[in-house]
Amino acid sequence: MIIVRTVAEMQGLSRRWRREGKRVGFVPTMGFLHDGHLSLVRLARDESDVSAVSIFVNPTQFGPSEDLAQYPRDFLRDEALCRGEGVDCVFYPAPEEMYASDFSTWVEEGVLSKPLCGQARPTHFRGVTTVVTKLFNAVLPDVAVFGRKDAQQALVIERMVRDLNVPVRIIVGDIIRESDGLAMSSRNKYLSVDERQRALSIRAGLLAASRLYDGGEKTAEVLRLAVLGSIEEQGGKVDYVELVSRAQLAALPQVSEPAVIAVAAFFGKTRLIDNCYLG
Ligand code: PAJ
Repeated sequence: MIIVRTVAEMQGLSRRWRREGKRVGFVPTMGFLHDGHLSLVRLARDESDVSAVSIFVNPTQFGPSEDLAQYPRDFLRDEALCRGEGVDCVFYPAPEEMYASDFSTWVEEGVLSKPLCGQARPTHFRGVTTVVTKLFNAVLPDVAVFGRKDAQQALVIERMVRDLNVPVRIIVGDIIRESDGLAMSSRNKYLSVDERQRALSIRAGLLAASRLYDGGEKTAEVLRLAVLGSIEEQGGKVDYVELVSRAQLAALPQVSEPAVIAVAAFFGKTRLIDNCYLG
């Protein structure tokens, strides 16, 4: 497994792979890898001949009051996990390698990035689309894999790729959960034992809404309140619970088309997100 720290070297390696007729699979991450990330690595390997994982805590997607400095990092552990999965290359650039001090060009999606997480984090998706473009331009992948845990992010990336003719096929992998249902996340590390226990109410609420839906309930407000109630009962501070269309992320009064219930909630200082597809 090769560790690459510069964009030029990454592009050189990828061009060489491509000249050899190899399809390049790519998983962008911010590191502190867990089984959710590794499930995406396996998907990438299934769909390609060589695989690259990037580990880069992207400063531009964090707001001024967010957890950039505290974001968990453990490169040696990540490296070992990638090696164990048979990854061919880890792209591990320093912030200065990715962003010149006078960096001034952004990639911004204008519709799907506005609701949900875009409300509380207005510059977040601009940071994501910009860094993903930069990572694509470094790794030059044929296929890139994202997780449905960040459903809005995956939709925004798919829209960006379509709108800008980015020659990368996007695959979206399922949400991987702990055995008790909590969606895996690098940020779960911040939770105290008590907060972690109470955070299970997110998944419990989503399952309750899903059961109501399966039983015939189509009214968004009823389904929404099932999730909200479950989280608030456990002392979670809800940022949003929204029932939106999967195509446009537009609020739906009734589940009349493929929809998703998306949640962001704080337990203590930790903001967790999760979601569940309906229809
Ligand atoms: P990060 O949070 O490290 O996540 C990297 C990828 O792993 C994302 O596509 C995310 O959706 C996926 N992922 C996280 N938890 C998952 C889980 N429990 N099950 C399945 N997939 C999961 O998302 C980012 O980094 C960044 O925004 C990035 C795209 C790398 C740009 O900086």
